Amino acid sequence: MSVDTTYPDTVHYRGLNRPTHIEGSAHDLHVEGRIPPEVDGAFFRAIHDPAYPPRFENDVVLSRDGMISKIEFKNGRVSTGIRYVQTDRFLAEREAGRALFGFYRNPYSDDPSVAGVSRTVANTTPYFHGGRLFISKEDGLPYRLDPEGLGTIGKWDYDGQLRSETLTAHPKVDPETGELFLFGYEADGLASTKVAYCVISPNGELISEQWFDAPYCGMQHDFAVTQTHAVFLVYPTIADLEGMKEGGPHWIHHQERESWIAVMPRYGSVEDLVWIKGPAGVHSFHVMNAFNEGSKLHVDQCLFNTNFFPFVMEPSGIDMQVEGALTRWTVDLDDVAAGVASEVLGPFCEMPIVPVADIGRPYSRGWYLTLDPGKITMLANGPSEVVFNCLQRISFPDRSIASFSQGPGIGFNEPVHIASRDPGHGGWLVMMIDRVIAEDHCAQEVWILEADAIANGPIAKVRMPFTTCEQVHGWWVPRNALEQAIPA
Ligand SMILES: [Fe+2]
Repeated sequence: MSVDTTYPDTVHYRGLNRPTHIEGSAHDLHVEGRIPPEVDGAFFRAIHDPAYPPRFENDVVLSRDGMISKIEFKNGRVSTGIRYVQTDRFLAEREAGRALFGFYRNPYSDDPSVAGVSRTVANTTPYFHGGRLFISKEDGLPYRLDPEGLGTIGKWDYDGQLRSETLTAHPKVDPETGELFLFGYEADGLASTKVAYCVISPNGELISEQWFDAPYCGMQHDFAVTQTHAVFLVYPTIADLEGMKEGGPHWIHHQERESWIAVMPRYGSVEDLVWIKGPAGVHSFHVMNAFNEGSKLHVDQCLFNTNFFPFVMEPSGIDMQVEGALTRWTVDLDDVAAGVASEVLGPFCEMPIVPVADIGRPYSRGWYLTLDPGKITMLANGPSEVVFNCLQRISFPDRSIASFSQGPGIGFNEPVHIASRDPGHGGWLVMMIDRVIAEDHCAQEVWILEADAIANGPIAKVRMPFTTCEQVHGWWVPRNALEQAIPA
């Protein structure tokens, strides 16, 4: 039986979205410069790379199969490996030699032979907790992976204890307690308003799972956990069940509908959830950080005036200039009736990070990607045709911004921050670089930058032996955590 390997000529399959199908490993990679001794561990990255052409030509990048990529640093030596996540979906399609699952998050468009099979592609975020490596996408359960060989161990439901059918791709680990905080939306099925909020012990046991209803079934890609509160963010990109049955998209953005922010004590009851109306029409995928300041609760996020995915805007009938900014939403917990105060902190941005030790706490700096319009590179990646070419660092409380941009011909991916053992040093950023080497083709390098001196550029570069598809999110696992990984 022959296999069709012809992919649609759309943004979703060109440039950095061109399928590679590559799996393998390579050792003692070429290093220029000096790798700091604290950069000792593994940089795990989620990659999306479809194993088969899509069932429908107009499917979107978010449906692509997940891969786990590892770049391991040990005593100044660097190795890499990449493997497909062997999801139920991947295995079913590998068996058939073709795509069986249809449109992004629309099971009505699937081949009838896979009815009831998990649709998730585990392509968004790798994370490590309780001695275990996971990779997740928000429409299903995470998969546990072997951090050494990158093999797939299987779906993870906390020994059958978890009731939710989904878990977020933006988990929060408390840096002091080691607890993992999770939520899942569409927790009991397609277009459901049910949301599950879960607390996991430092050694990986489900401590609590509480369910509540969101005001509508909106996209909830990220959330926040401060030292005192859990914060849920609901934006008006709303599941369209009737549309899905007609072959339409999962999401329709409602520009006129309000957004919502909900807060509850992080160890409290969902009965204590307080819902506060936010501005209409806005959307955010990513929170940079959230923290308490007296009775104030701040949520710093990459906020946009609409859902900027073209494949959401178009079926939603939205034709407007996309605008965004790093934005602080503030709620006064002593006066929630006052609503949400909104304040611009920085420019249009995406893929924000903070030091792991600062998650949920007052913080002094964060990093994010944005565009330097003078150095633009047009190259398909994810849902976009322009690559991020500028890394910025924002400092608090002065809100000064440092920039490092490259190009044309260079693209940046979300970095990870690695702390220094020297409290007077700000640590390092490790970031994958896409370098255009021919029309629509890239080579890749890993760059290491001083986190508090990004404008100086990289102190070390690692030449990658092969080029992967675009990275989504990454996660740094230090050596001591890797060594304590629990065997499968
Ligand atoms: Fe994300």
